[in-house]
Amino acid sequence: MNKFVTAAAALMFSWAAVAGSVADSHTDMAGCDACHDDGMPSSDLVYENETCVGCHGDLADLTQVHQDHQGMMVCTDCHITHEEGDDASSTCANCH
Ligand code: HEC
Ligand code: HEC
Ligand code: HEC
Ligand code: HEC
Repeated sequence: MNKFVTAAAALMFSWAAVAGSVADSHTDMAGCDACHDDGMPSSDLVYENETCVGCHGDLADLTQVHQDHQGMMVCTDCHITHEEGDDASSTCANCH
């Protein structure tokens, strides 16, 4: 956990808006291991989702659209992490 916090703190000083994927931007700051156990994707993404929460907090800590889904969803239900631009809004119509 400490290494995530340290990486996040370090990045706050250098972060700029990115057009690439969230995975690319995060790999630049902390490598594949920022989200994958030993760089290897898990089959259920439980590990990956725990890393998101470890750095960003859970749904209750984020903006309104997140709070609307508290207790119901995980980050990867909306964020397609390796997709260019990560347009999380494109997932709304899957359910609404
Ligand atoms: C920000 C967290 C994050 C980082 C950093 C990251 N990944 Fe991923 N990765 C994910 C998530 C979440 C998925 C599940 C599919 C998705 O959301 O795109 C995934 C899926 C994958 C998959 C399964 C195939 C696919 O694309 O769906 C592979 C392989 C993979 N990642 C490899 C890597 C490698 C190699 C790196 C470093 C170059 C990396 N990942 C960096 C979060 C991350
Ligand atoms: C090592 C800590 C860390 C982990 C793990 C992490 N993030 Fe981030 N993330 C950051 C930091 C730092 C920023 C830049 C500052 C900010 O926007 O909060 C960021 C930015 C973002 C952004 C906006 C900028 C962009 O790249 O588009 C999204 C969306 C995001 N993260 C989603 C995720 C998701 C989804 C996961 C899990 C798959 C994840 N993050 C895992 C630290 C992390
Ligand atoms: C219901 C779909 C949904 C889920 C689930 C979701 N997100 Fe998001 N997220 C979005 C949308 C849409 C945006 C862009 C608009 C906004 O910021 O409200 C966004 C933006 C972001 C941003 C960048 C803006 C900001 O608030 O700093 C971060 C970081 C982020 N999400 C992290 C996460 C993390 C971490 C999780 C899991 C705990 C998560 N998201 C789960 C839809 C979602
Ligand atoms: C995986 C399915 C799923 C996705 C994807 C999803 N939602 Fe939801 N959303 C729900 C469920 C279930 C509820 C709670 C039940 C309800 O109130 O309809 C909810 C509740 C809400 C609410 C609270 C108000 C209400 O209707 O009760 C808003 C606003 C909302 N969603 C907007 C969005 C937006 C915007 C997106 C895309 C960023 C999104 N949702 C993506 C399933 C989803």
